[in-house]
Amino acid sequence: MNIGNTDLGHRPVLLAPLEDITDSAFRTLCRRFGADMVYTEFVSSEALVRLAEKSNKKMAFDASERPIGIQIFGNGVEAMKNAALLAMEQNPEVIDINFGCPVRKVAMKGAGAGLLNDIPRMVAITREVVNAVNLPVTVKTRLGWDENSKYIVEIAERLQDVGIKAITIHGRTRAQMYSGEADWTLIGAVKNNPRMQIPVIGNGDITNPLIAADMFNRFGVDAIMIGRAAIGNPWIFRNVKAYFLSGELPDEPTRDERISVCLEHLRLAVQKKGETKGIIEMRKHYAGYFRGLSGFKQVRMEILNRKTYAEVAEILLNFSTPNF
Ligand SMILES: Cc1cc2nc3c(=O)[nH]c(=O)nc-3n(C[C@H](O)[C@H](O)[C@H](O)COP(=O)(O)O)c2cc1C
Repeated sequence: MNIGNTDLGHRPVLLAPLEDITDSAFRTLCRRFGADMVYTEFVSSEALVRLAEKSNKKMAFDASERPIGIQIFGNGVEAMKNAALLAMEQNPEVIDINFGCPVRKVAMKGAGAGLLNDIPRMVAITREVVNAVNLPVTVKTRLGWDENSKYIVEIAERLQDVGIKAITIHGRTRAQMYSGEADWTLIGAVKNNPRMQIPVIGNGDITNPLIAADMFNRFGVDAIMIGRAAIGNPWIFRNVKAYFLSGELPDEPTRDERISVCLEHLRLAVQKKGETKGIIEMRKHYAGYFRGLSGFKQVRMEILNRKTYAEVAEILLNFSTPNF
């Protein structure tokens, strides 16, 4: 599958953009474990003007993370165009527009999934961004605003017509937020619409290699995107791809492997964000890395009180000994 000139291979598996999670450190790990493309956390087009330094940091990435998409969101046509131009300076493979974020402070301001309520504006923003940059522009969105407005088949056509190069669809409505199950049937309907020429990337509730394969097989999508199931579990990309190749389910990572990758994540976080910030931001990853490991609760309490890399690393290393 290609997005613009970027070849992502056969049945690519992408890391979803996740605010506060998919920073440079985590993206680096996911690429190493086989994610075929990664995305930045979403960057506010308005904040890009007001808080340029913070937003620029969110858009920065290392060469080893490529191929990468920088994701932007907002409600203003002009602001989004300017944000896209700033994102273009980082020279990512893709500029992705977020029309899917359901959280109140975004959607109720008419940004993210809020634009599912104003499709003409969604199309206008997309057209303006496509025309402003000379990089492939993609969109990530949901099925519709609510149960009565699942217009994704028509929306996808209209966005294709103004020049996007791929569309990612999360199989929920805005009203659903993250509840219930993702419904992939409409994702399949977009893919099977004879008018659609661009790649369709399916997203929602992929948690293991069997589901990943099933979604490709049943709905014919060009790629899949994994979000929550990758948190504290970057191996998921390796496992999904191994299963595609061999048809056999690979072993889950051992306790020692979990801990050593978690340590590597911590090291990258500290290297990229500084010791204080890196240590604080790692806290939301531990539960994922150590899910199901005995003794984890106590270790987490200990980690929360530590402020230096050396202290946290020592606790983690001790945790990997079998007699802990
Ligand atoms: C904590 C969190 C942060 C998210 N941040 C973003 C974001 O910045 N941009 C975006 O397009 N989607 C964001 N999403 C949505 C995910 O990319 C994805 O569409 C959703 O979680 C469904 O996929 P999954 O079931 O594989 O997690 C976020 C989801 C979560 C849970």
